[in-house]
Amino acid sequence: MVHLGPKAPAHRKGTFTDVPDVLLAELKSLETQFTVSPDKLREIVAHFINELEKGLSVAGGNIPMIPGWVMDCPTGKEKGDYLAIDLGGTNLRVVLVRLGGNRDFDTTQSKYPLPGYMRTATSEQLWDFIADCLKKFVEEVYPEGCDSELPLGFTFSYPASQNKINEGVLQRWTKGWDINDVEGHDVVPMLQKAIKKVGVPIDVVALINDTTGTLVASMYTDPETIMGLIFGTGVNGAYYEIVKDIPKLQGKLSDDIAPDSPMAINCEYGAFDNELVVLPRTKYDVQIDLESPKPGQQSFEKMNSGYYLGEILRLVLLELAEEKQLIFKGQDLTKLHQAYIMDTSFPARIEEDPFENLSEVYDVFMEVLSIETTVPERKVIRRVCELIGERSARLSVCGIAAICKKRGYTKGHCAADGSVYNKYPDFKVRAAKALRDIFQWKDDEEDPITIVAAEDGSGVGAAVISALTEKRLKQGKSVGLAV
Ligand code: BGC
Repeated sequence: MVHLGPKAPAHRKGTFTDVPDVLLAELKSLETQFTVSPDKLREIVAHFINELEKGLSVAGGNIPMIPGWVMDCPTGKEKGDYLAIDLGGTNLRVVLVRLGGNRDFDTTQSKYPLPGYMRTATSEQLWDFIADCLKKFVEEVYPEGCDSELPLGFTFSYPASQNKINEGVLQRWTKGWDINDVEGHDVVPMLQKAIKKVGVPIDVVALINDTTGTLVASMYTDPETIMGLIFGTGVNGAYYEIVKDIPKLQGKLSDDIAPDSPMAINCEYGAFDNELVVLPRTKYDVQIDLESPKPGQQSFEKMNSGYYLGEILRLVLLELAEEKQLIFKGQDLTKLHQAYIMDTSFPARIEEDPFENLSEVYDVFMEVLSIETTVPERKVIRRVCELIGERSARLSVCGIAAICKKRGYTKGHCAADGSVYNKYPDFKVRAAKALRDIFQWKDDEEDPITIVAAEDGSGVGAAVISALTEKRLKQGKSVGLAV
């Protein structure tokens, strides 16, 4: 008998008595492979703390720990109009943010779907596309034209090194992007050049990682915020480090940056444990990595981010169907053979099916894969989704716990955004439970560290960071390395 977790929602309960023994045995083995015990979580967190520290050291490590040059915490009093753009996985979002100065704001925004070819387009096509969208947006919101140059915060959610706030040298594409001639280059002048070509008065004042934006936006409205997190197509976190605790910056800063000044760090911890010391990888994770455009990179992200959850499911099902001949007998598996045919909404829909006979699962499989499923098969599929979803949530909080332990945070709000956090069923409950497993809070104690829904990082966050940057520049303070 396969047991569901004690906190599984009522609709998940069900018996597996109609599932053949051989299939049950496979399921049992999958449970073992995908379950991350509290002890394992704590082991991962201990290694995570080392890697965070290594990333800040002169020698460096797997986790880049990129200083984001946001050296002030928002007070909530920041004011003014700012443009912000966010290059996401499927859309380009352009936002006009009006910061009210009283922890309040107003936004006007448009979304422009990225054409399908964009992930592998040429660099010029990418920047031209963004500049065209900006032009359209500015013409809409300022029909009479604008009388001064508009400051823009560019949220670029990829690992980009920054020697100053308005710079971002792309280290490597993640999340399936693969555009030539961008890696190793500063993306800000490329964007600025394309903007100049279309003739709109915009100045790119800051390049921001989505996690840093999330951190700052949430702090603008909630002073108890201690970090910004994204659980979406990719995974990552940002927090404020103290300058004197960042060895790799020592001797490289201007005098106006005090040793006890805060510095936002974009951890880029999707790259955690690329050396594979502690991550409990299954053979499916190994295969995903090998077949990805960047083997050996983003090892942590590949196990828990939204880009990969559907693909992990596909590989498990393919093995059960083809190699083991235990499900989908006599059916055409052509579509199941197509890599990345199932995005994360697929396991999410399966987990959400409220019907006893899992009729939604039946529909999903017919729609997406043209495969007919039996009730026992659907029970097994759902359980596999639960295992993948639960593992994702449990691994996801390891970064949170590591940052808290490193900085000595014993309470506070971890502001989270991203499709997995917002939409994947039970992610929040599972993540909260995993944090409890790590910290071992007393049963009668309320969670002192909680994951809360973030404010809009790539809109409001980018605007607040632009405002903080303008203020520093006006005060003659530095926003980058001393030259
Ligand atoms: C990127 C990060 C980003 C995260 C969440 C990762 O793949 O490397 O820069 O913050 O995804 O979007």
